[in-house]
Parts: sequence; structure tokens; C-alpha cells
Amino acid sequence: MPRNFKTLDDMGDIAGKRVLVREDLNVPMADGQVTDDTRLRATIPTVTELADKGAIVLILAHFGRPKGERNPEMSLAPLVRPYSNLLGREVRFVGDCAGEEAEEAVATLKAGDIAVLENTRFHKGEEKNDPELVDAMAKLGDFYVNDAFSAAHRAHASTEGLAHRLPAFAGRQMEAELDALDKALGNPEHPVAAVVGGAKVSTKLDVLEHLVAQVDHLIIGGGMANTFLAARGVNVGKSLCEHELTGEANGIFDAADQAGCTIHLPYDVVVAKEFAANPPSVRTVNVHEVAADEMILDVGPAAVEALADVLKTCRTLVWNGPLGAFEVPPFDAATVALAKTAAALTKEGSLVSVAGGGDTVAALNHAGVAGDFTFVSTAGGAFLEWMEGRTLPGVAALERE
Ligand code: 3PG
Ligand code: MG
Repeated sequence: MPRNFKTLDDMGDIAGKRVLVREDLNVPMADGQVTDDTRLRATIPTVTELADKGAIVLILAHFGRPKGERNPEMSLAPLVRPYSNLLGREVRFVGDCAGEEAEEAVATLKAGDIAVLENTRFHKGEEKNDPELVDAMAKLGDFYVNDAFSAAHRAHASTEGLAHRLPAFAGRQMEAELDALDKALGNPEHPVAAVVGGAKVSTKLDVLEHLVAQVDHLIIGGGMANTFLAARGVNVGKSLCEHELTGEANGIFDAADQAGCTIHLPYDVVVAKEFAANPPSVRTVNVHEVAADEMILDVGPAAVEALADVLKTCRTLVWNGPLGAFEVPPFDAATVALAKTAAALTKEGSLVSVAGGGDTVAALNHAGVAGDFTFVSTAGGAFLEWMEGRTLPGVAALERE
């Protein structure tokens, strides 16, 4: 795909210029501590590059869903110290992202300074993409950089509106995400495999429908595989299963047939009578031998081996969602084993592997292989919408005319 967005390379001389940078600082926190700083680390290349080029770096970001109210519990202020430590630079805090207070504070900043502006979602106009808020934010900057792919599924003032109001550029993380996603599904090398797991088919129907037309192998795991097994007439016992969606599952089987996509479902599974760590009732069975009082909680080892063989024939892998209930042992085994295979194939150079979305990163971290994938997206909802084949408004707004 020809790149149709501008990057930091296209900004020219920005010394002394004010650059509004949309980042995703929406990180999990507990007791005032950041529990996963992946998204903060993802901002470092753009923020340091701009500061080193002498820009006044003004970071716009949301935190939580304060719904247009000033909610001190969702202030970005407590993030400033951990963020500053991570960057190894001083970071200032400005108590608003628009209006007089912000204008006055920004006017005191010098070339190379970095500031985090208060939660954009404290303003009602943010989620409404209100032109008045866009104008008020635009007054603070000369340029706009969107580096927040993970918020690009939102058409908000700071993610979409500003791109039309100021000269707009993709940041380094945005660039890396778009390049990786293009390699994974836009213009991938075939054969392409997709792993789609997670609890429910209902949340990923659009993803599956889109993928069967794009990929050569669709590996379905997690609770959602049970709905597909049920559609095939398998008795899934007490397993999580959306029986009302077996019609949709059959529609996906048909669409896959027509598109020449092979759907892979587990033929052996790990079951238990209760969902607990290492329960006494755990056993591995053929998928046709699940008892009425058992639940399927993971893909079985024989199926994992067969899936590993599928990956060995593929050049590209896109992964979203765990194969089993990976938070609780031993139901993490399939996810860990297949993730390790994917990581090893990636290291050998035979596979481009791209993963993203909610639990996926946690699952790959648990397997200890996130660093060995070609690319791990920082996005949750945005990754899913991209896997559905949708245009993300924050990305579309960066595209050159
Ligand atoms: C996320 O956490 O997925 C992004 O930061 C977007 O947040 P949102 O789902 O509240 O829009
Ligand atoms: Mg979200």
C-alpha cells in the first residue's frame, strides 16, 4: 500500500513550534500506580523526537470515560510523575486542554518542553467532536500529530476533528501500527492464518465474517469455538456457548467454504466440572466425549500440535484473543504453546506475526513471547474494528487528499 499519510519526516523545521500530540495514556492503574505501562512506552519515540527537534510538545489524551465532566478520579495529573520517570525528562502538567488556563500555561513553555494537558474527555465537546472545542484546542498548537492508533476508532475532537483543523501528521507509533496492520491483513504474504479467540462469538461476528474472506486459515478458540462446535452438532455440555448464534456460525462456515478459507476447530479439548485452578475433574478428551456436566476450558494438545503444523505452512499470522481460559492454569496451555510456536517461526523469519486486542497482549505476555512477535498492537477496541475491515476515523482523517 502506498503510504497516504504524512509522518514526522514531513514536518519540516519545528523548532519553537507548538505541536499538539494525541497520545493514548489510557493505562490501567491501581492504587495510584501504573500496572501496565506498554502504552506509555509506545509514546516515547514520538514525544522525544519532537522535543529533540525543539518543538513545544503538548500531549492531548483521554483517561477513562468521564463523560464530559471534570472528574478528579480521572485526572491525568497522577500519571505525570510515572510518565516523566519513563521518559527520563521533565514533564509539566496543564490543568486543561482548551481555554484560557491552557493558553496561559502553554505560553510559558519553551522549545523542547513537554507537557501533558488534562483529560480531553472532561469537555463535553470531545466525544461530540464539537467544532468549538476543536477550535479551542487548535489555538494551542501549530501542528497536530496523531500517535494514538488505539483511540483512532473514535471520531472525537482530539482524535479526528483536529486533523482537519491543523496540518496533521502520523506519529511514530501510529506509523508502526499502520505498517504492521498493512502487512498482516492489508497486503499480507499468503498463506495467512488468523487466530481468533475470546469468550463470545457475539462480540466478534463482524471480525469473523470479514476474516473468512481475507485469510486462508481461520483458527477459532476460546469460548467462541464452542458455539461453532455446537453448530456442527457437538454436545458441549456446560460450556460457555451461545446456542442462539449457531445459525450465524453456520453462515460463517458457508462463507469460509466459498472463500476457500479453512476453519480450524479443536478436535480434542481440556474439560473440567468447575472453573478453578487445577481442578481435580480436569481431563483431556475428544471433542465428542464432553460430558453433560463438563465445560470446555482449553484446546487440547493434539489440536494444538495440528494448529502448529498449520502455522508452519503460513507466512502471516494475525492473532486476537486467547485459545482457552488462560488466566487460570492449566487452561493457559494451548495459548502458551501456540504462541510459542508463532514466536519461534517469527524468529526463524518464516512468519510475520501481528497480535492485538484486549486480553491478547496479556496472554502473550503470560506466554513470555510478546517481544518475539513481529508486532504487538497497543490497541483494544481499535484493533477489533480494524479486524472487522472498518475505516477508523482517526486514521482516515490523516490521509492525504
Ligand atoms: C482503549 O482503552 O481502548 C482506548 O484508549 C480507547 O478508550 P475508549 O474505549 O474509552 O474509547
Ligand atoms: Mg476500550
